Amino acid sequence: MTKDPVNAAKTYYQSHYDNLYQELLELLGIPSVSTSEEHKEYIQKAAHFLVNKLTELGLQNVKAYPTPRHPIIFGEYIVNPQKPTILIYGHYDVQPPDPLDQWETAPFEPQMRGDYLYARGSSDMKGQIWATISALQAILQTSELPVNIKYLIEGEEEIGSPSLDAFLEDHKALLKCDLVLNPDAGMLAPDKPTIIYALRGMVYFELRIFGPDADLHSGVFGGVIGNPANIISKVIAGMHDDQSRVTLHGFFDDVRPISEEESEQLSKLGMDEEFFKGITHVPALGGEENYSPVERIGARPTLDVNGIYAGYIEKGTKTIIPAYAMAKISTRLVPDQDPEKIHESMRAYLSETVPETVRWELDFLSGAPAYITEEQAPGVDKFMDALEATWGVKPLKKREGGSIPVATSMKNILGVDSIITGFGLPDDQIHSPNERLHLPTHKKGVEALIRFFLSYE
Ligand code: BES
Ligand code: MN
Repeated sequence: MTKDPVNAAKTYYQSHYDNLYQELLELLGIPSVSTSEEHKEYIQKAAHFLVNKLTELGLQNVKAYPTPRHPIIFGEYIVNPQKPTILIYGHYDVQPPDPLDQWETAPFEPQMRGDYLYARGSSDMKGQIWATISALQAILQTSELPVNIKYLIEGEEEIGSPSLDAFLEDHKALLKCDLVLNPDAGMLAPDKPTIIYALRGMVYFELRIFGPDADLHSGVFGGVIGNPANIISKVIAGMHDDQSRVTLHGFFDDVRPISEEESEQLSKLGMDEEFFKGITHVPALGGEENYSPVERIGARPTLDVNGIYAGYIEKGTKTIIPAYAMAKISTRLVPDQDPEKIHESMRAYLSETVPETVRWELDFLSGAPAYITEEQAPGVDKFMDALEATWGVKPLKKREGGSIPVATSMKNILGVDSIITGFGLPDDQIHSPNERLHLPTHKKGVEALIRFFLSYE
C-alpha cells in the first residue's frame, strides 16, 4: 500500500491534469440539452462518453440503461462487499443555452478566460461529475480505493427527473449503498466550502389561455373580445399581493417555520442584501417582507414566471387581439409543502380568476417536495473533515434555494441520505448565458474528494 495515498493521488492529479481537462472540454462540447427533442442524438453521445470513461477507469457493470426518455448510466467499483458503499449521483444533461446572442463565446465550445472555463454545463454539473471522476482516477492509479463506489448519472435532471423514481424502484439491489454523494450544488465563495442540509422543492406549470380562433383586428374587435394577453397578465399579477406574498389559497398552510436558532445561524452566512446585489447588479431586492434574504431563499416558498408568450413580439407594430397566451410558472417549495396540494390551489385560483371570455388549460409539468436532512447523514463528518483539510477553514452549513429532487427520491426509495455539496459558486451563471466553472475551486474540490474517498481507510 502506498505510504501517503493522499499525496500520491494529488501528485497524479497534478501531472495528469492536462489530460483530464481535455476530456472535460470534450464532454462540455456535447450539447446534451434534455428538454429539446432535437438534441436527443447529443444526449446519447454524452451518455456514451461517460460509459467509456467509467469503463476506462476500471469500473464494473458499466451500462447505459434506457428509460422512456434519456438513458441512466450506472457503474460500480466494489473493493469489498463488507465495506461501506458511496453512490455518486450526477446528471449529464444541461439547460438550454438560450438566449444565444448573450454568450461571449459559443456555449458548447468551451473556452478558458482567466480562472474560468466558460460553457453550458461547466458548473451545472459536468464539471462536478468530472471532479469526482478525476479524484477516483487519481486514487485508482496510485493506491487502493478503500471504499465501494457506485455511479448513477442521469440525463433528465434539468427536466425534473421523470424517469428516475421508476429506475430507483426497479434497481434497489443494484443501487444498494450507505450514502449518496450528490455534488450538484455549490459553495458560498471560493474560500467557503459548504455543505447543504436543505433544498427547496418545486412544482412547474404551463398555463395556456385561448381566446378567439385566430388573431383578430384589435380595432374591429377590441372592446367586445376578451384579450388572452391582457388576461394572462392580470391573472399572473394576482398571484402576488402588494407585500410580494403569494395569494394562492392555502399556499403557506404547510410551511414548516424556521426556528429562531436556525435563523440566527443562517444570518451569519453573509447572504445579505449586498451579497445578492453584488452577484446580480439589481438596484434593489424583491420578495416577501419580514423575512431576511437568506430566509427568503432557503425557508420560504416562492412563485415565479419563467417565461411568458403572447401575440406579436417582432419589430414594429401589429394591431391584433392575440388568439393565445402562455406562461411557464414555477413554485419553489419548502419542507412540509405537498406538490399535489400546490397544484390544487393553483387550479382553484385559476377557476376563480380567469374570466369566462377565454378558455384555459393548466399542465403540471413536474413536482417534487423539498428536502431536509433531519439528523447528520453518514459520511458527513468525513466529508466535512476533507473540506477542512483542503481549505483550512471550517465548512459552512446552509440551506439551498435550488432544487435537486433526486435527494428526496434517494431518501424515500433507497432509504439513504445524501451529502449535498459541490464546487460551483453563486456567480457561475448556471442556467444563464456565460455559465462558467472556477477552475481553482474545481481543483481544490478534486483534492477534497480524494481526501474524502481515502478517509474510509
Ligand atoms: N444544480 C441545480 C440545483 C442547484 C443550483 C443546487 C444551485 C444548488 C445550487 C440543478 O441542476 C437544477 O437546476 N435543478 C432544477 C430542478 C428542476 C428542473 C426540477 C432547478 O432547481 O431549477
Ligand atoms: Mn444541476
